[in-house]
Amino acid sequence: MEGLVSNFMDADHAYLDKLWVGFLGEENNPESSSELLKRFKRHLLLHIELEDNFLFPLLNSHINMGINPGLLAMAKRDHRNIIKLLAMVEEAGLGRDIREIKAASRHLHRALEKHRLREDEIHYPVCDFFVEPEEWNSALSRIYGKRLEKDAREGNKYLEKIYG
Ligand SMILES: [Fe+2]
Ligand SMILES: [Fe+2]
Repeated sequence: MEGLVSNFMDADHAYLDKLWVGFLGEENNPESSSELLKRFKRHLLLHIELEDNFLFPLLNSHINMGINPGLLAMAKRDHRNIIKLLAMVEEAGLGRDIREIKAASRHLHRALEKHRLREDEIHYPVCDFFVEPEEWNSALSRIYGKRLEKDAREGNKYLEKIYG
């Protein structure tokens, strides 16, 4: 899907994927995987903040024709579940039981996949229709500001579509 919001959020999901795959690759090694999990968590919370505090409330206020007033509630419920599952992965990591870590990560992996599919099919394409570039850019720099600066410093190109 092409669009202002879809482009950015798809790239952001891909970035989260990269962090998550990095963690999965180290699952057998709780020592180094906990650091990778922290990086994944930091960015996931930022992504969720952008959705819960800006994007989806805006989406709800634009869809007041009774088509689907529950889009924000649905996403928030998913996010709460994802954060709960992530806490279980962290807890398993503390116990250093590799079987537990693998089982907890599988649950989170499935929840992320399902959630992302829904956002890609419904939430983001609808947002593409009405989010104005100006309000989008100001929300991004408000919520992602430090992250974007860090990307620029490190030459991370994934946001260039928006700022390039
Ligand atoms: Fe989400
Ligand atoms: Fe998302």
